Amino acid sequence: MDQSALVVPFNDTRRRFAASRQVLLDAWERLLVRGVFIGGPAVASFEQAFAAYCGAAHCVGLGNGTDALEIMLRAVGVGGGDEVIVVANAGGYATSACLAIGAVPVYVDVNLNTCQIDPATIDEAIGPKTKAILATHLYGLMCDVAEIRTRMSILGRQDVALVEDCAQAHGARLNGDRAGGLGAAAAFSFYPTKNLGAVGDAGAVVCNDAELAARIRQLRQYGWSNKYDVVVPGGRNSRIDPFQTIVLLHQLPNLDEANAIRRRICGLYADNLGAGWKLVHADDASFVGHLAVLIAPDAAARSRARDMLRRRGIGHDIHYPVLDCDQTGWRGRGRVVGDLARSRELTQRVLSIPCFAELSVDELEQVVDVLRAIR
Ligand SMILES: Cc1ncc(COP(=O)(O)O)c(C=O)c1O
Repeated sequence: MDQSALVVPFNDTRRRFAASRQVLLDAWERLLVRGVFIGGPAVASFEQAFAAYCGAAHCVGLGNGTDALEIMLRAVGVGGGDEVIVVANAGGYATSACLAIGAVPVYVDVNLNTCQIDPATIDEAIGPKTKAILATHLYGLMCDVAEIRTRMSILGRQDVALVEDCAQAHGARLNGDRAGGLGAAAAFSFYPTKNLGAVGDAGAVVCNDAELAARIRQLRQYGWSNKYDVVVPGGRNSRIDPFQTIVLLHQLPNLDEANAIRRRICGLYADNLGAGWKLVHADDASFVGHLAVLIAPDAAARSRARDMLRRRGIGHDIHYPVLDCDQTGWRGRGRVVGDLARSRELTQRVLSIPCFAELSVDELEQVVDVLRAIR
């Protein structure tokens, strides 16, 4: 969809930098003069600041969020033929990462109201080959990591690594813990539309274990311990770009405030929904409003709402239209647990509407107008 042709864009990442363009250009100019274009102080400063923000000891900047998932899984010991428990409704990134390693994604169902992994499904999914569970915090809402952990302990499977996908949950907190501090490691994407977004591709893994962080640093650079000395297999080039870390570091102090605005936008939408409609959200910091995702009463209602949004020029999208296990290119590559009935039903009912911190009051009123009218 051409965002510039819309009355209300689904997202407009240019607005994030309206007030800070000159500051960023000046910082980029200093980097051009210094000439350290790979790694260096700009990367180290961001890694330190982001680790501290997440309440983690280490952050390793990487090329993008999908690389972060793959490298994180490798680093916690996932290899060819191992199984990783994932959800199927999170856009395919987890599957892509698993398949890159030769691991098998094992798909479990989600909760119909929250759209997050249903911890009860883990009992059936877990098996002798399970090496990791990927807890994806979808749409900006934190999934129930504590319950996943409880089930792992009841099952006596503390050998399985619990890792997080925080690509949609920068800054979310659950009982005081930030997303990214709840498992053995956590992967982040800084894709431009993310709550903390770069102006190109970027990603990171955060963790508390120094050895794990060191392994991730090796994996992001060909498996080297020192130059030309390969000590771990599976390494490649996935280094974060210092031009991007300058942009990220600059935004970090404003992240909590931007998240609070996103949360208020979702609260406003939730207060104006018609009968039978729901919005995936929470009023507290366990939700950071990465996306405003409506759940329509049924597929026909979603279709009517899409028509109305289209007519009024309001950006919208579906996150996500196809389950990973139903993708033609991945047919037969994963293992499906049960029928994934709830995940599949949600593909027919979810509908994302504009949600970003720079939406104007007038734009919000136009979205709310539609919400009040849809049936
Ligand atoms: C939940 C989730 N995981 C992983 C990714 C992958 O990030 P990237 O696009 O930076 O590879 C994304 C987003 O794009 C995402 O939304």
